[in-house]
Amino acid sequence: MRNVDEDTITQIVLARHAEARNPRLKQIMTSVVQHLHAFARDVELTEEEWFAGIQFLTDVGHITDDKRQEFILLSDTLGLSMLVTALNNRKPVGCTESTVFGPFFVENAPEYENGDDVANGAKGEPCFVTGRVTGLAGEPVPNAHIEVWQADSDGFYDVQYEDATQSQGRGALKSLADGTFHFRSITAESYPIPHDGPVGRMLKALGRHPWRPAHLHFMIDAPGYERLITHVFRSGDEYLDSDAVFGVRSSLIANWQRHETGNAPDGTQIDTPFSTLDFTFVLNRADGAGNRRA
Ligand code: BEZ
Ligand code: FE
Repeated sequence: MRNVDEDTITQIVLARHAEARNPRLKQIMTSVVQHLHAFARDVELTEEEWFAGIQFLTDVGHITDDKRQEFILLSDTLGLSMLVTALNNRKPVGCTESTVFGPFFVENAPEYENGDDVANGAKGEPCFVTGRVTGLAGEPVPNAHIEVWQADSDGFYDVQYEDATQSQGRGALKSLADGTFHFRSITAESYPIPHDGPVGRMLKALGRHPWRPAHLHFMIDAPGYERLITHVFRSGDEYLDSDAVFGVRSSLIANWQRHETGNAPDGTQIDTPFSTLDFTFVLNRADGAGNRRA
């Protein structure tokens, strides 16, 4: 094909995909090409702007390594991650809503018993978390595998420290026979997502801040139920309505009760300020019966 021009190029590119053997790949790439071309036409993209975009994506690639995933950060800050989460986690009303996974989950976190301190030395005010895992009918879900992870009071996850030698502020535990679980950790605080790279520069240029409201991450797996990936957000946080990655759902906001001193739920006497949090997680059945369009 010769003499391709601005009016014919989209259909000509798509025609080249005619022999694609994977129908899903063909569908996705057809849509990608159509939307990319429509975008360039829409904004009348200049050559300088096209090259600035290429340079930006190159920078995103250069800063990405096994510890820093700038492409996920880009997807998160453009709302793509939350959109994909919403599209793939339609659930019956009453189930705990899902939210973004984020880049700081780590496989094989240490296993803890109920009552243990998952902070493991992470900086922050003590927090005692109690919770319950149920199904939609209120049935307790025993032996659920619960992964929890969070940032310290300086706003960093353990894996963000160059010299980290052990897991801090993360761990795995099981729900008990009545579906309950409890552990000690530290009080979640709001923190900025990594913004010293190209995504941070993009946010700044767009007049956006990089902050996330205080939250605890949970991933819960139990036989017969869908995996739940979510957060619990701290009520009153100033960033609840402007989360840099659009992850807040009203149903996930909980009250972190603050105590000056006193008896913690596990009976220990705490002489410094601490907080308590209680949250019930309602899992969707694995057969997906009753899943709704969001
Ligand atoms: C997080 O909550 O850990 C997170 C989510 C998206 C981007 C950066 C951090
Ligand atoms: Fe987080």
